[in-house]
Amino acid sequence: MCGIIGYTGSGRREAVPILLQGLSRLEYRGYDSAGVAITLGEGRGIVTRKLAGRVTALRELMDRLPAHGGSGIAHTRWATHGAPHTRNAHPHSDCHERIAIVHNGIIENAETLRAALAGSGHQFTSETDTEVLAHLIEQTPGDTLEARVIAALEHVVGTYGLAAIAADEPGKIVVARRGSPVLLGIGDGEYFVASDASAVLEHTRAVVYLDDGDIAVLTPTSYQVLDREARVQRRSLNDLQWDLEAIELGGHAHFMQKEILEQPETIRSTLRGRLMGDGSVARLNGLNLTPADCADVRRIDIVACGTSWHAGLVGRHIIEELADIPVSVEYASEFRYRRRPRPSGKPGTRLTIAISQSGETADTLEAMRAARAAGSRVVGIVNVVGSTIAREADGGIYLHAGPEIGVASTKAFTSQIVALTLLGGYLGAHRGQSLDSKKADELVCSLTELPGLVSQALALEPEVQAIARQYSDAHHAMYLGRGVNFPVALEGALKLKEISYIHAEGYPAAEMKHGPIALIDEHMPVVFVAPHDEVYPKVVSNMHEVRARGGRILAITTEGNGDLSGGGLVDHQLRVPRTIPILSPILTVIPLQLLAYHTALLRGCDVDRPRNLAKSVTVE
Ligand code: AGP
Repeated sequence: MCGIIGYTGSGRREAVPILLQGLSRLEYRGYDSAGVAITLGEGRGIVTRKLAGRVTALRELMDRLPAHGGSGIAHTRWATHGAPHTRNAHPHSDCHERIAIVHNGIIENAETLRAALAGSGHQFTSETDTEVLAHLIEQTPGDTLEARVIAALEHVVGTYGLAAIAADEPGKIVVARRGSPVLLGIGDGEYFVASDASAVLEHTRAVVYLDDGDIAVLTPTSYQVLDREARVQRRSLNDLQWDLEAIELGGHAHFMQKEILEQPETIRSTLRGRLMGDGSVARLNGLNLTPADCADVRRIDIVACGTSWHAGLVGRHIIEELADIPVSVEYASEFRYRRRPRPSGKPGTRLTIAISQSGETADTLEAMRAARAAGSRVVGIVNVVGSTIAREADGGIYLHAGPEIGVASTKAFTSQIVALTLLGGYLGAHRGQSLDSKKADELVCSLTELPGLVSQALALEPEVQAIARQYSDAHHAMYLGRGVNFPVALEGALKLKEISYIHAEGYPAAEMKHGPIALIDEHMPVVFVAPHDEVYPKVVSNMHEVRARGGRILAITTEGNGDLSGGGLVDHQLRVPRTIPILSPILTVIPLQLLAYHTALLRGCDVDRPRNLAKSVTVE
């Protein structure tokens, strides 16, 4: 949620262009309002410019009302407290505009603090929780800004990634982290703070990831990380591995389109250097699970949110089939607050897998922490290198799918399923009878073929576009699938909801008869995910039930599945290439990603910045 950035440097560089460019890179984290605050230097105070709207509008405002200075902070917002109005946009200031602050997170005791501060005369201009921080720092005595921030935060309950500046100490930026991701960019005579690396990559590859409780002080000539006793902390300098192209559109109309079309390559990079032909399926060094550990696993819990949760549902089928371990898949937000019975006396490892593209989703992070506290071993399947879940887990698998900028997750989903398959194969191969070498080799062969098969599925785009024209005026849609493709029905429905705002539901096909079938009529498009597998005949029966009630049917089937439209059973069918059943979701989801994309385009929706959403949900 929200993107923050800050810049200070000893060079001659103006801060505003750097901050605006950084904000545009962070806009996928929240885009309902934006603002910037610049320290003007000796005694000339702080200038703040902000508005409800996109970074482009803020750029136009800065062109009309420029502010010059070598350091400042900026913010792009996803509203939690206070509607997206200019008064609620960040930066927020104290009563005399001598302090400005940008914040990502939620101050849970803001109301209490606000009442106390108002009681001692502070004037508030917004409904936000964040503004409280500016007044609290104003109220807190101290020789330096960092001393005042540290003391003020003693009174704060909640989560924050924040950056503050003060008119009395021009050029200094004080940063604090608890719960929300923050990193420092270390340049040549200049320093950056940002919510993620995409905002600093064009200036430096050297970043410092802050931990919870860290305070950082940036000046034009130095940076320091302190703890809450203002003691200097050592933090490692990391080298960013991806290039600027990875976060550029590269000639595509939208990041979502780019990310859908680059899946053959992203799947290849998730597989790169990991496939083993010696019956062990995969080499997963980062997992920190020895063969003995694998043999000892008695139960697996998968925790995740949104699309990652759907990948987890597919992962359950794969791991149970390949490794013969019982797997439960939990909404992270429910898992963390549910009282789970302590594991029975039976020895053996309980393994919790946290799946998260961003590696920063608050519910998934906290669910992972809760699982660890309950004695579970925790591993992460994560895309963003250096993210909190990746750094806190006992081990993990990086997707290496490159930055995913489009708010609607696509390439991460297919790479998550590939990673779960590698994990299932690795566990199975190290658990005696679970996975014999013949099956292991067949699996490795099928994984190796995947990128080529995904390219074939992407070639269906023109047909999908034609079908989208016939469905784009729908108000509702239903997605149905069975077995390992039921989660694909959920994912297809989520993609359509997220970016085209058509209400859509995913259901197990057999479950339809127990209620949702009441919704079926000639206005209800029904998408069946029906590859050729053992439940295919059952899915065809469900199609007949829908057809009997006049439903419009689009079937995602497999080459060689016979002609469903010839007999008039379905209105449209799209054939994806054939692969082994547990990998079929990676192919059946492709036309559903394209269907959502083209339907949203036809409805004039902002595909990369869908309303009310943000790419990484760092608040509860
Ligand atoms: C998916 O398109 C959405 N962006 C959202 O559901 C997302 O999957 C969810 O917020 C989880 O994000 P994560 O994978 O970064 O943890």
